[in-house]
Amino acid sequence: MTKLLYVVGSPRGENSESTSIAGTFLEAYREANPPVEVDTLDLWREPLPVYGPAGVEAKMSVFAGEEPQADAWGDVLRVFERFNAADRYLFTVPMWNHGVPWPLKHLIDTISQPGLIFGFDPEKGYSGLLTDKKAAVIYTSGVYGPGRGRAFGTDFHSTYFNDWLRFAGIEDVTEVRFQPTIATADANALREAAHAEARRLGARFESSALAAA
Ligand SMILES: Cc1cc2nc3c(=O)[nH]c(=O)nc-3n(C[C@H](O)[C@H](O)[C@H](O)COP(=O)(O)O)c2cc1C
Repeated sequence: MTKLLYVVGSPRGENSESTSIAGTFLEAYREANPPVEVDTLDLWREPLPVYGPAGVEAKMSVFAGEEPQADAWGDVLRVFERFNAADRYLFTVPMWNHGVPWPLKHLIDTISQPGLIFGFDPEKGYSGLLTDKKAAVIYTSGVYGPGRGRAFGTDFHSTYFNDWLRFAGIEDVTEVRFQPTIATADANALREAAHAEARRLGARFESSALAAA
């Protein structure tokens, strides 16, 4: 059975625009693909283990080909294994200060480990290890919107996050955007368009993945 990991990046619960759009996407996805197992990782309600000095030392040990400190590496492995158990991903990524919310960066810093998410070759550089997977991402921002100009902010959230997915080996990325959500007279029209796009892309998410496989 296909496993989808839904990673919730907004803390705003039922007030969250990205969560609402993700709900529309998931509903369409489930309707089109009845046997799917969904695991929800709500980064705000299920905090990850702190990735601090011991975790960093463990990473540097692994990178140097040495044995990592067991407890810290065990924490990393548990989070990574849950992440890696999925074939498909759905992320909600609101823009926070032009970047991604910190719990999502925390997840990225925890699991972006040598031999897990990426390989490294001194001549060829990085290679992503999460192949044969596919992601959908819901991007929201209150003020920033594509083409609005620098005075309305700069998009370091989707550029950063899409690049991280590809760094990890997840090349097939579907995006839905609702931007801007607040500083616009057209919020209702943009919201409706984003939900319609989520419905359309949710329904074909799996079949386009199978066709590509
Ligand atoms: C801490 C914080 C930082 C934010 N920073 C930005 C920003 O840099 N640019 C922007 O356009 N909107 C920013 N916003 C607004 C959110 O991106 C916007 O409200 C979005 O719709 C949130 O998505 P959500 O409703 O799914 O939580 C910020 C909101 C918060 C709470």
